[in-house]
Amino acid sequence: MNRDVETSFLSFVPIFSGLDEDTIDRIENLGIKQRFKKDSTILFEEESGSALFIIMEGKVKVSRVSSDGREVILTILNDSDFFGEMSILDGAVRSASITAMEDTEIFIIQRNDFLDLLQNHPDISIALLQELTQRLRAADTKIKSLSLKDAEGKVATVILQLADDIGKIRQGKVEIEKLPYQHDLANMAGTSRETISRTLHLFAKKGLVELEGSKLRIMNYEKFKEAYTG
Ligand code: CMP
Repeated sequence: MNRDVETSFLSFVPIFSGLDEDTIDRIENLGIKQRFKKDSTILFEEESGSALFIIMEGKVKVSRVSSDGREVILTILNDSDFFGEMSILDGAVRSASITAMEDTEIFIIQRNDFLDLLQNHPDISIALLQELTQRLRAADTKIKSLSLKDAEGKVATVILQLADDIGKIRQGKVEIEKLPYQHDLANMAGTSRETISRTLHLFAKKGLVELEGSKLRIMNYEKFKEAYTG
């Protein structure tokens, strides 16, 4: 185990930020690292679970499958994000499946070890609550957007969610370096691939975004947000 690399990785994880080196060191010794290939399933919806997962490097999708077999992507998580906390906290089955969207390296902590950390380090508990609050806000925004039933509003909501999660500010514009595939965007927005394609081109024609290969640039983030999420 490369201690230097892992120590620096854990201190960049928001729920562990502010912890002293000894504590970071102890957490490092609690977990194990595991690699998952692109497209492999890390967690299955409805399975029971007893571990927390932190993404060291890579990208995963959080999804559920509807009764007619359609996939709904709830969100995409990246470096330093965590998942698997819901089953740990309430003891119920996994609420969603997690699939690697690229080769991904994960740090895994067992339930009892994580619960001990929460009990002994209130800062971790507060940071966890803050992240869960942000996820609830994002889910509320999505519910609102889905009930709007308007294709532009649904696609804009997904673009804004991706901008918040993986966007980078460059020269005053928000850039999403690697936009997910159109069928994944469709599963995030609750619409079809054709609608995604048509709507993205409409946004480009209106001058709201620029498309360049798999890159999407939002020309004026605030204006775009105001126009579509009110
Ligand atoms: P758990 O239910 O244990 O396993 C699936 C995980 O997916 C869940 O914990 C959360 O970590 C994650 N998850 C479920 N729903 C969402 C969501 N709406 N936003 C972000 N992550 C989620």
